[in-house]
Amino acid sequence: MADQFKSISDEISSFKVATSDDLEAYRLRFIGRKNIIGDLFAQMRNVPNDEKKTFGQKVNELKNLAQNKFQELIESLNSGDSNEESYDDLTLPAAKSSFGSIHPLTATRQRFIQIFERIGFNVSSGPEIEDDWHNFTALNFPENHPAREMQDTFFIEKNPDIALRTHTSSVQIRVLENEEPPIRTLSPGRVFRNEAISARAHCVFHQMEGLYVDKDVSFSDLKQTLFHFAKEMFSKKTQIRFRPSYFPFTEPSAEIDISCQICHGEGCNICKYTGWVEIGGAGMVDPNVLENCNIDSSVYSGFAFGMGIERITMLRYGVKDLRLFTENDVRFLKQFNSL
Ligand code: DAH
Repeated sequence: MADQFKSISDEISSFKVATSDDLEAYRLRFIGRKNIIGDLFAQMRNVPNDEKKTFGQKVNELKNLAQNKFQELIESLNSGDSNEESYDDLTLPAAKSSFGSIHPLTATRQRFIQIFERIGFNVSSGPEIEDDWHNFTALNFPENHPAREMQDTFFIEKNPDIALRTHTSSVQIRVLENEEPPIRTLSPGRVFRNEAISARAHCVFHQMEGLYVDKDVSFSDLKQTLFHFAKEMFSKKTQIRFRPSYFPFTEPSAEIDISCQICHGEGCNICKYTGWVEIGGAGMVDPNVLENCNIDSSVYSGFAFGMGIERITMLRYGVKDLRLFTENDVRFLKQFNSL
């Protein structure tokens, strides 16, 4: 019996772990539910009565030894101080590290800017917290006009009204107030609306605003510019279509559609069998907007447009749920590694 104690004790003392599998092997043998020390306890009933006490003490000692050693092994494994010989082999390939990649919304924004920079547009920005003048009034939304309800606004303060901007059109006003025509600018940014979150809508999303003001800017300039954009952003075969619409800050106004990138006009469930998908709104800058910013509307004219960056990105990459853009799921994001 004494031999048995000695051999278990030696085994514990000399046990070495290099991996978590080794540690688990140790645990199963000396600590786990059916361990070797437990077997000794079970033998207690065969031990003569006068030896029971010493036997019990010895088994308890073994048990403590096993527990203490277990703690030691855990610590040595955690500190990387395994009992395997360690050495630095400088010829080994470097440990693989994974770099992040460009977010698909960023890729779309960058592509947008690239396309428009080549035709003379710069980039401008404005604050996300806006006053009523820049978000609504200067954009020709009359006070108490139902058009204000087109966009469910998050107000921060009332009287005077301060809100999270509902669109990037507010940046048009900031640029028109501060710069002289000719103006060609693109304003990307985050916008906010009190909308229920779903696969197609979110209360926080991104828009790209475009503004061109100069002498003799016409609706055909708007059409050509957006046609050029659609071909560059999507594919050379892309067609565009304008549908009459209403925005307070443009006259005339239009919704812009592109030919469906999935079925190329044949009809599918993405385009709801129409062959067309909407990408944004546009129009000729309303003379009232120019006048609100002290630009002479008898000399200057302009066009403007606004598009959802999420929407364009969904169409570019076939993303069906815009919540994916903000959920931070690496399984989604990794699919854009090649960007
Ligand atoms: N601001 C509009 C919206 O958020 C989009 C828009 C439409 C912008 C027409 C424009 C425009 O500049 O001309 O729904």
